[in-house]
Amino acid sequence: MRHLMSPLDFTVEELDKLLDLANDIEKNPQKYAHACEGKKIATLFYEPSTRTRLSFEAAMLNLGGSVLGFSSADSSSAAKGESVSDTIRIVSCYADICAMRHPKEGAPLVASLKSSIPVINAGDGGHQHPTQTLTDLLTIRSLKGRLGNLTIGLCGDLKFGRTVHSLIHALVRYPNVRFVLISPEELRIPDYIRDDVLVRNNQSFREVIRLEDALPELDLLYMTRVQKERFFNEEDYVRMKDFYILDKAKMELARPDMLVLHPLPRVNEISVEVDDDPRAVYFKQVQYGVYVRMALILTLLEVEVC
Ligand code: NCD
Repeated sequence: MRHLMSPLDFTVEELDKLLDLANDIEKNPQKYAHACEGKKIATLFYEPSTRTRLSFEAAMLNLGGSVLGFSSADSSSAAKGESVSDTIRIVSCYADICAMRHPKEGAPLVASLKSSIPVINAGDGGHQHPTQTLTDLLTIRSLKGRLGNLTIGLCGDLKFGRTVHSLIHALVRYPNVRFVLISPEELRIPDYIRDDVLVRNNQSFREVIRLEDALPELDLLYMTRVQKERFFNEEDYVRMKDFYILDKAKMELARPDMLVLHPLPRVNEISVEVDDDPRAVYFKQVQYGVYVRMALILTLLEVEVC
């Protein structure tokens, strides 16, 4: 039995297979409409979510399966003091696979050790968000045609943004990827990513503060929200929250084929006037998130569709 805790749990070859499967699902959704009949996914969300939880549920429903779960810690026995280890033992009796989001780093990993069903990390604190990374990889590969030979700007809250941490982990495995890390001083990428992932892999990267300085060279700009819920005080958040605002004027500095991705939710960091720019693909990215989660459920449940 396999779990998904980090994007590195799949080899590059396995990832290619998974993304191929997602592209086939996109082309032939009917072929997969009954693949998980009789199976259930439990979505255990101890933290707010719109896309991740609903896309897991939509993915299972598209496969003919069913869903159960909770969408906040308050509405589960966590409010009574139950541990994730106990909760997952219970849920293992009810469902065939589970997606868990938790504010504490490592909570889904703890759950996976006691689970008798596959556990998917749907975001653990400021640590990792592997299924957002699968979504990002599918979006990039489908729209750019490749995952290597890219200059990628990662902009915003690189300190607390778990989507960025997971995406860097995944992308260092592809050839000739150059990162431009765009953040204010206080929200720079943590050392455990800079030293243990980027430096250790001899990865080409540079850090800049001004978005304008990076824009002209990018193939891809990955914008992120300042992670309000991870700040220790409101004042720091208020000071940082509007540090970057991508608008039409800034988009003019970018290449005509530069893609703009965002894991969403967006707050102020992308002006709504950018939404109509054909380079803005963050809403398409949401649709890819459903296909890739369908592919992931099939893969972890070892369901083959011929
Ligand atoms: C992200 C997350 O939860 O980390 N959202 C998502 O799952 N698409 C990004 C964010 O909340 O800023």
